[in-house]
Amino acid sequence: MHVSDAIIKRRSVRAYQNKQVPNELIKKIFLQAQDSPSNCNTQPWHVVVVSGDVRDKIEKAMVSEIMSGKAPTPFFQPGDQGLKDQYRKRQIDCAISLYDSVDIKYEEKEKRQQLMLKNWQFFGAPHAAFFSMPKTMKEINAVDMGIYLQTLMLLMTENGIACCPQGALAMYPNAVQEVANIPEDNAIMFGLSFGYAQEDAAINHFEVGREDLSTNVEFLG
Ligand SMILES: Cc1cc2nc3c(=O)[nH]c(=O)nc-3n(C[C@H](O)[C@H](O)[C@H](O)COP(=O)(O)O)c2cc1C
Repeated sequence: MHVSDAIIKRRSVRAYQNKQVPNELIKKIFLQAQDSPSNCNTQPWHVVVVSGDVRDKIEKAMVSEIMSGKAPTPFFQPGDQGLKDQYRKRQIDCAISLYDSVDIKYEEKEKRQQLMLKNWQFFGAPHAAFFSMPKTMKEINAVDMGIYLQTLMLLMTENGIACCPQGALAMYPNAVQEVANIPEDNAIMFGLSFGYAQEDAAINHFEVGREDLSTNVEFLG
């Protein structure tokens, strides 16, 4: 598969088969992703990949925090806060496309919340990864995290594995920390649920689209 094909094929997948990805394949993909570039080759990513019982315990701990009404405690500012103008519009359009795909109306608050909760159930994926970087690092280091994430997602796509990047998985770090060993000086920036896609699920069939090239990119000279 060419990189350009993987870029087009990769989409955020939010329903999964109950089928484990072989360990050797998971390890191969993470090994290949180690080749990602980073500022001064600092390689700030630390990743905990969870499957089986460990994955289930983390789901239970996160859902229990949410159900008990605990406020989220992300260390890094979440990406969906305080958006304005075209960014707010794209955020809303994206949410509406998601609800539409599963026939949820905006007024159906409880159904929207149930759908939101699926974030912390890894959308049913059998595997998840938590990505942290040192708390002292800044925006430019977060670029490395993003490049690493996309490298990993494209490698997954090449290998027929679906995934969904999730800022939501940084919201309840204490629940994650109870089970997974996130280095003390680090904070979770995002997570990634992954596994084999449930191809026929309606939620896996909506397009959020992209702006015209001229909206985002200018060519001068
Ligand atoms: C850093 C990051 C965080 C994201 N967080 C979430 C999330 O918490 N929940 C979710 O369902 N999707 C999340 N997404 C997926 C985006 O909504 C998705 O990438 C965007 O709508 C474009 O759709 P596509 O990935 O299918 O091309 C996140 C994506 C990125 C890159």
